[in-house]
Amino acid sequence: MKRLTLAAIMLLTALGMMAEKKCIVVYFSATGTTAKLAKEIAKDKDAALWEIVPAEPYTDADLDWRNKQSRSSLEMADPEERPMIKMCTNIMPYEEVYLGFPIWWGICPRIIDSWLENNVEMLEGKPIHLFCTSGGSGIDGAVTYLKKGYPSLKFDIKK
Ligand SMILES: Cc1cc2nc3c(=O)[nH]c(=O)nc-3n(C[C@H](O)[C@H](O)[C@H](O)COP(=O)(O)O)c2cc1C
Repeated sequence: MKRLTLAAIMLLTALGMMAEKKCIVVYFSATGTTAKLAKEIAKDKDAALWEIVPAEPYTDADLDWRNKQSRSSLEMADPEERPMIKMCTNIMPYEEVYLGFPIWWGICPRIIDSWLENNVEMLEGKPIHLFCTSGGSGIDGAVTYLKKGYPSLKFDIKK
């Protein structure tokens, strides 16, 4: 019982701390590179941090882009794919959003669509600053894709 109370207090404190921040850094990272960058940005901007965690984690085999039948290849080949996310994000208290992801096949992974579709109404009117990591591709393909897919949202590239 004592442990439960302590856990509840810690959770409420963490939520309270998150709610005080004006911006939030939301990211997906399959192998940790984007996570590292997201943490640096959150520190730099004094922002809250939220990881988009897939309900089913990606294995190394899932991420094998050389295999046309791997999970990531199948997801990226199907524009309608929306991988499930483990937990919802409360975007409401934040005025500004940073959204980061690894580039997959020149754009953002489909789980970013899952997240945007879940949050689109709450994101309307808020600036969404995009950032990415990649093996060399730039972010422009993802920006074009996202602007086309979510015309009611205000995307720009993180400066
Ligand atoms: C399925 C898949 C597709 C990828 N496609 C690209 C790509 O089109 N261009 C590129 O430069 N890098 C590509 N990469 C490399 C990742 O963008 C890069 O390793 C990224 O930093 C990984 O970030 P993470 O560790 O946060 O998952 C791809 C990686 C995977 C797993």
